[in-house]
Amino acid sequence: MSQSKNVGIIGLGKYLPEKILTNQDFEKLVDTSDAWITERTGIKERRMARPDEATSDMALAAAREALAAAKLTAQDIDLIVVATVTGDTAFPSTACRLQGALGCRPIPAFDVSAACSGYIYALTIAQNFIKAGTVRYALVVAAEKLTSVADYTDRNTCVLFGDGAGAAVLAAVDSGGILSSYLGTDGTQSELINMPAGGSRRPASHETVDQRLHYLKMNGAEVFRVAVKTMADAAMEAMNTLGVHSAEEVDLVIPHQANIRIINAVAKRMGVSLTEGKVFLNIEKYGNMSAASTAVALTEAVQQGRVKKGDRVVMVAFGSGLTWGALVIELS
Ligand code: ACO
Repeated sequence: MSQSKNVGIIGLGKYLPEKILTNQDFEKLVDTSDAWITERTGIKERRMARPDEATSDMALAAAREALAAAKLTAQDIDLIVVATVTGDTAFPSTACRLQGALGCRPIPAFDVSAACSGYIYALTIAQNFIKAGTVRYALVVAAEKLTSVADYTDRNTCVLFGDGAGAAVLAAVDSGGILSSYLGTDGTQSELINMPAGGSRRPASHETVDQRLHYLKMNGAEVFRVAVKTMADAAMEAMNTLGVHSAEEVDLVIPHQANIRIINAVAKRMGVSLTEGKVFLNIEKYGNMSAASTAVALTEAVQQGRVKKGDRVVMVAFGSGLTWGALVIELS
């Protein structure tokens, strides 16, 4: 879908908890090694929120930085969309908690559940509110406390995930902004990454807790296979709408940071290699932060000067659902 009215990002922020979990830390928890994790995933470290630190606390810190970057206050915001699958509680939403903590006016605030693709979904939703003319300034936050659903007895999954938050303020801009957006789902594959219990299908009980069903379960090998093709196809769809047929023609690719081998394969399909410096990587430091991965990556890319006003960025993500999404953004 190409967009006619220009909506861009006017402020970015991020928050990463202080505590670092290294691969060596995992060697003491499960049967694994720094060498295996580094070679098979590209991850060296990930962040872990404090026990008393919830997703909305991380969202608040990232949101404040984004508001400051946009030179706005919480009172200016007309809409909050939070992308998360690890909200503080099943209800109320993390967006409502964030609205209260920021001290916003009684504006609409809601969560989007699209796992790792959540930031791209949330940016697209906010963009369309602004295009419709009902919202002037929208705050989009992607925040996850995946360490709260990671099973630290399962070496297949626990080494992959970390905590963090990224935020963006969106508004109408004179030119550029979000140029195209492509979103998709395949609910027939919902079992590939899921948390089996704690919802209405299997409410929490002693039995579900004993069976460790409140932790994230993943068929990693199958997810890997689908992720490579789907992410590359989604990115190409978002670019093709603009007459762009290779990532060579954009300034930076920001992929979801799930596995360096997935990123490598996706980049190749998009026509670039990791050695060219056209693909943003922070997986080594943070692991997979689900929706927060692309949000933190975009913020870091701008804060580190990897991209500047007028540059074109392709963001692409894939996750539980299955969900996927891609955006082409010309930075405002
Ligand atoms: N340390 C040592 N060995 C391990 C570890 C570990 N941490 N984890 C798995 N292994 C072992 C397995 O037990 C298996 O051993 P076996 O052959 O004796 O049974 C062997 O390594 C190979 O296992 P695979 O699963 O085939 O390993 P693979 O190379 O596929 O890597 C991984 C696993 C990293 C999970 C990969 O499949 C992956 O990244 N998948 C995609 C994950 C992803 O993209 N998720 C995105 C969405 S997440 C979300 O939505 C919240």
